[in-house]
Amino acid sequence: MEKKSKELETAIKAALQAGKVLEKYFETAILKNEKEDKSIVTLADKESEEVIKKIIFDVFPDHSILGEETGMNGREGEYIWHVDPIDGTRNFANAIPLFAVSIALVFKDEIILGIVYNPSTRSMFYAEKGKGAYFNDKKIFVSKDEANHGMLTVSRGKANTDEKLFRELLYSLPKKVVSSVRDLGCAALDLVYVARGGLEANIQLGLNTYDFAAGVFIIQEAGGKVTNLNGTSWEFPENHFIASNGVFHDLLVEEVQKQIKKLTPSA
Ligand code: IPD
Ligand code: CA
Ligand code: CA
Repeated sequence: MEKKSKELETAIKAALQAGKVLEKYFETAILKNEKEDKSIVTLADKESEEVIKKIIFDVFPDHSILGEETGMNGREGEYIWHVDPIDGTRNFANAIPLFAVSIALVFKDEIILGIVYNPSTRSMFYAEKGKGAYFNDKKIFVSKDEANHGMLTVSRGKANTDEKLFRELLYSLPKKVVSSVRDLGCAALDLVYVARGGLEANIQLGLNTYDFAAGVFIIQEAGGKVTNLNGTSWEFPENHFIASNGVFHDLLVEEVQKQIKKLTPSA
């Protein structure tokens, strides 16, 4: 990117510093604590969030930060940073290198910047409104793969209501649509891998804004397509959506709708 904004420079600095925290704890016997919703949290999640907040607030004291571990911080303003200090904590705590720091900046309900950083592979993905998407400073684009060649991931939040559809999508999508379906356990990476062209699509069911805002924005800037599950146009902060390379998006919508109908026969 020719010229990065102060916001992007700050977000990159915060992600790199948070990444150092994660490197310090990765592959150590870190204690896993269970949250009320049964997901796990570690000292690294909390330390990473503190580092990110400090760096952002030093430069933008009037902005707000919505962090997974500490909720809404700072003044209620028009600029809100959505921060996941470790997306994929379960992978991280089990020494599986599929986790990332995810940071997005939202202005008046519109995402204007996104960063996803995996410190274990030193992979930095970022995008700013209208400037394209980048991986380690090189411009990236979604793949051109057509139906039946591609790889798709499904990511799901904690609501039980999405459980059945999640399983159907993982196990029942026909081969004519995708050749392989999986769940990486890190929604932010699921999304940026679509942006880089390594995956063809990601379907998200009920995650939080700090999980997906950065990644989904990076896909849009990489030329991908994002719609609601029924194919209508997607808007932040809707958290059920299909993000793809755009090539077989309509077919994917059709298949997802078939699975939804199968689960709700009266609809
Ligand atoms: C998790 C990841 C995962 C998704 C979980 C999320 P966390 O985030 O995004 O892919 O399936 O529902 O909770 O808790 O590790 O930040
Ligand atoms: Ca997360
Ligand atoms: Ca997290």
